[in-house]
Amino acid sequence: MTLYLGTFLDTPDADQPAGVRLRAATDQALRVVDGVITERGPAADLRRRHTGDEVVDLREGLVLPGLVDTHVHFPQVRAIGALGMPLLEWLDRRALPEEERLASVDYARQVATEFVGGLVGAGTTTALVFGSHFASAVDVLFEEVDRVGLRVTSGLVVSDRSLPESLLSTPERTYDESVALAGRWHGRGRTRYAVTPRFSYSASDDLLDACASVRKDVPGTWFTSHVNENQAEIIEVARLFADSEHYVDTYDRHGLVGPSTVLAHNVHPTDCELALLAARGASVAHCPTSNSALGSGLFPLREHVEHGVRVALGSDVGAGTGFSLIKEALQAYFMQQLLGPGGLPLASPDLLFLATRAGALALGLGSEVGDLSVGRQFDAVWVRPRAGDPLEVGLCHALDAEDALARTFALGTPDHVAGVWVGGDRVKG
Ligand code: GUN
Ligand code: ZN
Repeated sequence: MTLYLGTFLDTPDADQPAGVRLRAATDQALRVVDGVITERGPAADLRRRHTGDEVVDLREGLVLPGLVDTHVHFPQVRAIGALGMPLLEWLDRRALPEEERLASVDYARQVATEFVGGLVGAGTTTALVFGSHFASAVDVLFEEVDRVGLRVTSGLVVSDRSLPESLLSTPERTYDESVALAGRWHGRGRTRYAVTPRFSYSASDDLLDACASVRKDVPGTWFTSHVNENQAEIIEVARLFADSEHYVDTYDRHGLVGPSTVLAHNVHPTDCELALLAARGASVAHCPTSNSALGSGLFPLREHVEHGVRVALGSDVGAGTGFSLIKEALQAYFMQQLLGPGGLPLASPDLLFLATRAGALALGLGSEVGDLSVGRQFDAVWVRPRAGDPLEVGLCHALDAEDALARTFALGTPDHVAGVWVGGDRVKG
């Protein structure tokens, strides 16, 4: 039994990123038993009643729910920071050549260590991860996340056209390798399996059918892919799928769009597509630094919210510029500001929601993680700047908790993450 003392900020009752209420608990304690929060209340009160508990003092700084990244690529850690190219050129020149190197299990093992280290270092406790095109590399990734104890949903990335030869599969191999991987990892510890065609640009209808068969034969798996990221990509998908109504339909007509679906980007959706995503209960992973770095466009968050489409955040490493969901949230804020009257103004509680509970909801984990209520797993990030650090100065001069949180989004980096817990297990600090 452990008592954590501190200032705890979360957004337990929000379900859309607008007008979110911040719950701020100062001088509080959370009691954690077997990884689950069993009590919250004034620190003095809980300490009096639980004198035998271990006490962990997190009163300097702030404690947030563990951050949730709904779109991040395992094989792209070493590709972060290649600037100046639009999507298709960036894939050809930087991302895909790096992904080909994961054919080597030794190489994949090194990258898996760097990747999981990057997530934990940034305070990410739950992630939906785009795996590798190589089944051996996906095994290595799952082994590493299982060893560290992160909550990760991931799977074999599959394609059967338009990519370098070594990254291509077939519908038959896709089915066999995916079912085998899911058999090893789906529901083991904190890991789950996600069926992951790269994007319709590199998938035939037969491949997408094989993906649907995997989902049917392995119940409870997730589905993730990319959609409507870049104009050149969208034009090519329309040409390849001339009989599809639109990009979302290329997945939907195979039964792949539903409440367990997370599609990344959706920067250029039609109203029809937004209505369909809402009707299916699917989620969109908004990846603001990636959209900025690749010049993909300004994400229509207001339109998503108005149609009732769930939106969460993704770092989209390596097109995105790092693992920090704090930075992604700030960039989301910037982009809505730049949209002017068409944008959705975001306040710091909205940003916290997007970086935590929104992701938990998108991944069907809203009753387990995403906030610090009684009954939730203790997945948490301790943000504690050193004395004299600009964030420490900002926190000292904050007007209230919402202002302190805004300063955390403005100034916070992985260097300020002093501790990270998943299910009560300390994985950093
Ligand atoms: N679309 C297909 N593959 C990718 C990828 O690796 N990154 C991004 N941003 N978009 C993609
Ligand atoms: Zn991506």
